[in-house]
Amino acid sequence: MSESIYEPRFDWALLQQETMKLDSFAALLSERCVSKKPTPDQQPLLQSLSFRQAVPHIPTTTYGVFSLYRYPAKFIPQAVAYVIEQYATRCSSVIDPFGGSGTTGLVARLYGLNYELWDLNPLLGILHQIATLNPMPIQLDGIVRALKGSRETWLPRWSRLHYWYPEPILPLLSKAWGYYHSLEDTTLRLMLTVPLLKATKQFSYNDPQRQKLSRSPKAQARVEALMQGDFESRFFAIFREELVQVLRKLWEYHQLMGETQVPQSVVRSGVDALEVAQQLSAEQRWDILITSPPYLQAQEYIRCSKMDLLWLGYTEEAVRELARHEFPYKKVESIPIYSPTYETLRQHIQETHLRRMYDQYFYAVLGTLTRLAQHIQNYMCLFVGQATVRGMRVPIDIIFAEHFTQLGWIHEATLIDTIEARVLFKARINPATGIEDHRMPTEHMVILRR
Ligand SMILES: C[S@@+](CC[C@H](N)C(=O)[O-])C[C@H]1O[C@@H](n2cnc3c(N)ncnc32)[C@H](O)[C@@H]1O
Repeated sequence: MSESIYEPRFDWALLQQETMKLDSFAALLSERCVSKKPTPDQQPLLQSLSFRQAVPHIPTTTYGVFSLYRYPAKFIPQAVAYVIEQYATRCSSVIDPFGGSGTTGLVARLYGLNYELWDLNPLLGILHQIATLNPMPIQLDGIVRALKGSRETWLPRWSRLHYWYPEPILPLLSKAWGYYHSLEDTTLRLMLTVPLLKATKQFSYNDPQRQKLSRSPKAQARVEALMQGDFESRFFAIFREELVQVLRKLWEYHQLMGETQVPQSVVRSGVDALEVAQQLSAEQRWDILITSPPYLQAQEYIRCSKMDLLWLGYTEEAVRELARHEFPYKKVESIPIYSPTYETLRQHIQETHLRRMYDQYFYAVLGTLTRLAQHIQNYMCLFVGQATVRGMRVPIDIIFAEHFTQLGWIHEATLIDTIEARVLFKARINPATGIEDHRMPTEHMVILRR
């Protein structure tokens, strides 16, 4: 295999030595297909732990395809692995209605568990297809040559294209993306997706440190430096390097999979979770729900992904339409929220627009989860960050736990992890409220049992 990859650092034998060996993740789960029995009168356990230390068989938070793409507010894979090991059996099926970059599915897959993922962001479907490719040898230099020499041209239908890129790079991008969009070999096209997106992003004036598309002096300086002299070679060097990284990540993940039988998976991307949850057939069932819902301090996932979606062929109108469904911006019907904490805090929010945002958030997220809960047989594991509205802390975990306890679920535990390696955007101004953001450094995993 290594012979066809002209890349000295990409050595299969060396990689093999580096990879942690664990016979099978599935072996860590009970073979008896019964979930744990409730302990009577048990108080919810408040437990502080490091998911990373608890799951050492996933070597790092960025291991393998878990760092394929920089998706905002990603799960660390160890958090998902931890709850699977605690609450799943070999027969469990898993659902994540806010799948994002697909971490829940990719972890469930390691344990051989069937899974289903939903997300409004169409990137989920593409990223999942890439992450689950079998690693394969690639003629790196041949591909670079093909991109350079492509006769096909393609540019996104984007009114602001010329604002975001220096004019001289556009013919090169047009050729590279022309090659990409005309490729009939879908596997190869998937392989090239992330490297092309990353190289293209490098040459745009967008500042990746900011949440939505935004130009900054820093980004301007970066692009000017890249455009000095032979920018074409620089573009293809970045692309080539990123392609090597994709191959390496696929290989690492493949090693973690080992002999595990590939489970069944369903991925529904570009869908509104509330609408999907409303349309489920009565007999649809999953054992465990594991999710991290959108933030109350909105991340604006669709706007974060806009540039990439346009290069992948989505139109501006399609992106706008998706953004209209994003929580907490989507206008949704009110639902009863069975939480005294929710009510008390609500009384303290004076500004109408903040109160509307607060309500919409809980109507949308709890509306989705409450409907979906009827189809969950054993556990719901809800990973939530802390939020503040006008400096007032909103304990979303407590509101979720109170709501579902009223609906008959048992609040078994809240697990608290301290964020270390997670990439959180340090937005100074929260786009949803127009006020300053104060995020707490902990995330809470609320465990609810039927
Ligand atoms: C915290 S992120 C999930 C990240 C994910 N756990 C991961 O590891 O990548 C929340 C997700 O909710 C999605 N979302 C927002 N509004 C949605 C809606 N109406 N329907 C489905 N997904 C939605 C966002 O696109 C985002 O991917």
